[in-house]
Amino acid sequence: MKDMYKKTLDEYCEKINHALLRLTENKPELQKIVCEAMEYSLSAGGKRIRPVLMLEFCKMCGGNSEKYIDLSCTVEMVHTYSLIHDDLPCMDNDDFRRGKPSCHKMFPEAIALLAGDALNTLPYEIISSKAIEGTISYESSVKLSNILSSSTGVMGMIGGQVVDIEAEHRKITIDELNYLQILKTGALIKAACKMGCILGQKPEKIPFAEKYADALGRAFQIVDDILDVTGSFEELGKPIGSDSKQDKSTYISLMGLEKSKDEAEKLTNEAISILDNFENSDFLKELTMELLTRKK
Ligand code: IPE
Ligand code: IPE
Ligand code: MG
Ligand code: MG
Ligand code: MG
Repeated sequence: MKDMYKKTLDEYCEKINHALLRLTENKPELQKIVCEAMEYSLSAGGKRIRPVLMLEFCKMCGGNSEKYIDLSCTVEMVHTYSLIHDDLPCMDNDDFRRGKPSCHKMFPEAIALLAGDALNTLPYEIISSKAIEGTISYESSVKLSNILSSSTGVMGMIGGQVVDIEAEHRKITIDELNYLQILKTGALIKAACKMGCILGQKPEKIPFAEKYADALGRAFQIVDDILDVTGSFEELGKPIGSDSKQDKSTYISLMGLEKSKDEAEKLTNEAISILDNFENSDFLKELTMELLTRKK
């Protein structure tokens, strides 16, 4: 069971990694540096959770996920853009990401900024191209673009990052913290799950995908905050203590470590039970549980 899970995850990651490189291989001479910065951050590793979620939701809805590897990369590109910007000196000012120097440490800061920008627009080029070449319908392409753009914007990841910054140096309420986490981390995770339902042509499953993603998104960020306190730089590949350095509001700063662990476990179990609404959910149940006990 465990071996099967690991094998499936490795196969997914290999295909996603391969596609990410292919989708960014065009490097025009005069713009080469920004393309190299994009490739640098995309190929630096990363768990590829979001594309895997998209492909798995597609599969659980009865779709052929093999056809949609490129589309699954769109959400990883937006995620990688968010990380490049998140590490910038004007944001979290972190020098390492995915075990390597952050993008702005390897490239000029302006190029890192632009690499992030480019990774935020390429997804829409890919989604629309897939409709033009007939892999998906125009209707699906509009729905995918709508989900991805709205989950990235002011009512999504960007909005969450704003609330996160505004919550520095003050004690916020637990409701504010939940709101912040649902946006900054949950929105993109939710987009991935919903986009999978669109690709699997079962839009009626979206409400379940949303409930699952809300629970997983919060559990995922709580674990991220826990690892910022208890993790190791070697395993995480990014600096620990970043949140306290910035005086961030996190679950740990509000509730303490033990309550945070309990909450992450509760949310994980909640997420797993929602998956009972889908056929063939064994892999995703396992993945959801693994994300709770992850070390990176
Ligand atoms: C880190 O995300 C930032 C958060 C939204 C918590 P991941 O933990 O998915 O980072 P990678 O992609 O594996 O590097
Ligand atoms: C960032 O949260 C979430 C994003 C939208 C990028 P964090 O700032 O906690 O992410 P890490 O810990 O740097 O990966
Ligand atoms: Mg941050
Ligand atoms: Mg950060
Ligand atoms: Mg963090």
